[in-house]
Amino acid sequence: MGIQITPSVLNADLSRLADEVARIPSADWVHVDVMDNHFVPNLTLGLPVVEALAQHSTLPIDVHLMIEDPDRWAPAYAEAGVGSVTFHLEAAAAPVRLARELRAQGARASMALKPATPLEAAEGMLGELDMLLLMTVEPGFGGQKFLDLVLPKIRRARELVSAAGLELWLQVDGGVSAETVERAAEAGADVFVAGSAVYSAEDPDAVVRELRDLAHA
Ligand code: DX5
Ligand code: ZN
Repeated sequence: MGIQITPSVLNADLSRLADEVARIPSADWVHVDVMDNHFVPNLTLGLPVVEALAQHSTLPIDVHLMIEDPDRWAPAYAEAGVGSVTFHLEAAAAPVRLARELRAQGARASMALKPATPLEAAEGMLGELDMLLLMTVEPGFGGQKFLDLVLPKIRRARELVSAAGLELWLQVDGGVSAETVERAAEAGADVFVAGSAVYSAEDPDAVVRELRDLAHA
């Protein structure tokens, strides 16, 4: 599949969500951060808003569920027409069952690990996933600094994926910008979430294209 850019609308104008998505035509997906104020100390939006966006978005939706009890809620996002559903390993009661359920619904099944969660916790189930998200900040807020300490985990994940011949995308999320995207790409990431870097710019689509070029280099 190659390099993909998935801007996060967390720092976009949330009163004009579909219009904000239309400003980034060069992106591959739009990344939507769902936070419940329990799994992370912040509250954003939930199923009704994602359902509404799915009707009007010019890009497929990549939803990132930073919520407790994803076993209960994640399938509803697939049902709403979301193309890729990411749940956190730390919050899931039965991650393998949940990944299989999402795939059976026709969504891409994706699982996220917080920076301190070891890759070993997910290693045995990589074949059940379409994407692994390695968080490069502690989840909860946009605008944080990229954590270089996650780079060895990205490298190791890329080795495992290559050795096993898996079609697994490796996504990074948090602090991705023109300054950090090359490091993440060099370590082996191929799907890049960028929130503030894209939506704080005058021309968000130009940043999407720049990040893609830098990641390819
Ligand atoms: C953080 C979210 C990210 C966030 C990224 O918990 O998962 O998707 O929007 O924002 P930046 O790119 O500003 O770190
Ligand atoms: Zn996210």
